[in-house]
Amino acid sequence: MEQYIISGGKPLIGEVEIGGAKNAALAIIAAAVMTDEEMLLENLPDVKDVNLLLQAIQDTGIKVERIDRHTVKINASTIHSYRVDYEYIKKMRASYYLLGAFLGKAGKAEVALPGGCDIGSRPIDQHIKGFRALGADVEISNGMVYTYADHLYGQHIYMDVVSVGASINVMMAAVLADGYTIIENAAKEPHVVDVANMLNRMGANIRGAGTDVIRIRGVEKLHGCEYSIIPDQIEAGTFMFAAAATRGNVLVRNVIPKHLEAITSKLREMGSTVMEYDDAVHVIASDVIKSTHVKTLPYPGFPTDMQPQIGVTLGLSSGTSIVIESIFETRFKYLDELARMGADVKVEGNLAIITGVPEYKGAEVSAPDLRAGAALVIAGLAAKGYTIVDGIKYILRGYERFDEKLRALGANIAVVTNEREIIEFKYKVV
Ligand code: UD1
Repeated sequence: MEQYIISGGKPLIGEVEIGGAKNAALAIIAAAVMTDEEMLLENLPDVKDVNLLLQAIQDTGIKVERIDRHTVKINASTIHSYRVDYEYIKKMRASYYLLGAFLGKAGKAEVALPGGCDIGSRPIDQHIKGFRALGADVEISNGMVYTYADHLYGQHIYMDVVSVGASINVMMAAVLADGYTIIENAAKEPHVVDVANMLNRMGANIRGAGTDVIRIRGVEKLHGCEYSIIPDQIEAGTFMFAAAATRGNVLVRNVIPKHLEAITSKLREMGSTVMEYDDAVHVIASDVIKSTHVKTLPYPGFPTDMQPQIGVTLGLSSGTSIVIESIFETRFKYLDELARMGADVKVEGNLAIITGVPEYKGAEVSAPDLRAGAALVIAGLAAKGYTIVDGIKYILRGYERFDEKLRALGANIAVVTNEREIIEFKYKVV
């Protein structure tokens, strides 16, 4: 089993280049299959989730040609099946974007129903409500979602909860529908805008993405295009908090600073200096991390995907902080692991009370999910002594060359698979 071993206590110093946004890439790959013409996608992150989805679409007959590590050509003219099995969904729930994409393209889709996951129950009722409103039949049986439509018609749809997944899925289903669709109470996340921008480039007519009302005028056909995915705000935010927690100084390049505003403003409240440039942010940590309160919210609020990273950093602050998780109910599991490193934490439902300690002490900890795993790596980088992070398969779902990028910033981190490699690592870093 692969693990990260970290010898902590060194500030991160230097520059890091951020890759394409995983969560945008997943939806964009699904949208790219909606035309039979060739699509060229650039700035795709080379991470497990993205590669799994590419595999899933290949299994339906779609041609995927990798041009280089971050560029693929997709040609869906050879598609022969509109089915995605549980094997994919259980590994990567965003395969559900193929429901909206296939339904919009061909009027049919059979995709395994995603279950709950490590961060809580994640229903898809709003996706289904949207598909039905557009005129599709949706049936759930034997763990599959079956959806069919002879014809899709534009509709006025009100989302009961702000959902990134449902907004994107329903938007994809509506782009080739007859007439005008309005999605109210839509999610405003940068990845929703990115998918809309690409669909528009393919010939769709979508207005208002990035606001809470998305208006879609159905078109007859979509065509191929070239599209470059936006930078990953969560990867960027992870390095920004890693800089703060290790009292480092890091220039985070290839970002859209506007997408990072919630993160930047919390870091400033916590005492870091954050300078914004056109496509970079520079984080200079302060020696004393100030406590603060934070509540996760849909964009432009503080992202749920950054909650573990800020939590770990607040655990080293000079006071007591309250963290409220309002999107997913079981996203505090990492705090039990952090407590094993000496953190002072108390969880009450969706609220965590974190009282800062002067330092963490290295321990063996387990990554409970993707972002929590990255946060435990941050804790290890800041901690005194050696930390071993188990379950790095989760981290590899969403971070490309994570350990390599951290090493370039001066971190002592390596992937190890057995006791001998652990001893060798310890021998090398002393
Ligand atoms: C969420 C994040 C997104 C992040 C992604 C990956 C929000 C609003 N969304 O998106 O920024 O990139 O995780 O980790 O922060 N819900 C329903 N019914 C539905 C769909 C969702 O009740 O049909 C609820 C969910 O349980 C959750 C909330 O709505 O409480 C937001 O879910 P949603 O935005 O769909 O989640 P993701 O698309 O996974």
